[in-house]
Order: sequence, then structure tokens, then C-alpha cells
Amino acid sequence: MTFVVTEACIKCKYTDCVDVCPTDAFREGANMLVIEPDDCIDCALCVPECPVNAIFAEEDVPSDQTTFVAENAALARQWPTITRKKPAPADADDWARVQDKRDQLDRRGPREGD
Ligand code: SF4
Ligand code: F3S
Repeated sequence: MTFVVTEACIKCKYTDCVDVCPTDAFREGANMLVIEPDDCIDCALCVPECPVNAIFAEEDVPSDQTTFVAENAALARQWPTITRKKPAPADADDWARVQDKRDQLDRRGPREGD
């Protein structure tokens, strides 16, 4: 099993989740984080840290979010590890109110200076 970051993280990227992860399982993309399934030990510590409730146990991922299971596994192999919280994007709170934003997912890695 693993935990999975879903659509709500896109363009929010608050990174509160990162600080509590005991295995450094989070990976950073340009506008979202994902979890490396091979590193996640299912401790669930990250779940309550996310202000937008983006993180679910794999078996509890909502039915309209299941593509993010494979998306996390694939992107985690391309993106670098993130181990410390960093400032959220300036417009993160605006994007927190947007439900349908999967078309905004940027599959590139983090930009320099982020
Ligand atoms: Fe890290 Fe635990 Fe969250 Fe897995 S469930 S990503 S090990 S904090
Ligand atoms: Fe994303 Fe929530 Fe972490 S918005 S970066 S999963 S705290």
C-alpha cells in the first residue's frame, strides 16, 4: 500500500506534508507533490497536515481521483525528493477553492528558484 497525493494539491503545494514524513517519500514537481510508493510506510502522519485534504491512503482514494495512483508512481520516479517545507505559491489560496484543476498539472520538475 501507499499514500497518494491527489488533484487538490495542484497549484496549492503547501508542503506542510513534507515536514512530517519520516521516510522523505515526497517528490516535488513544478506545481504539485507526489509520494514515492516504494518509500511510503503508510504512517498517515501527512494526511492531517494538508490544508486541502489532498492525501489519501491508496485504498481510500476517491473514485474520481484514482488516476493519481499511477500518476504518483510515475512522476515520483522523475521528480526530486523534497524534505523541507517551503513557501506556497502566492496564489495557492485561490487555487484551493478550485475543484476541477487536473488540466493544470505540470509534469515538469520544480523550477529553479522555487
Ligand atoms: Fe510519508 Fe507517512 Fe505520508 Fe507515507 S503516509 S508519505 S510515510 S508521512
Ligand atoms: Fe500538496 Fe497538501 Fe502537501 S497541498 S504539498 S499535499 S500539504
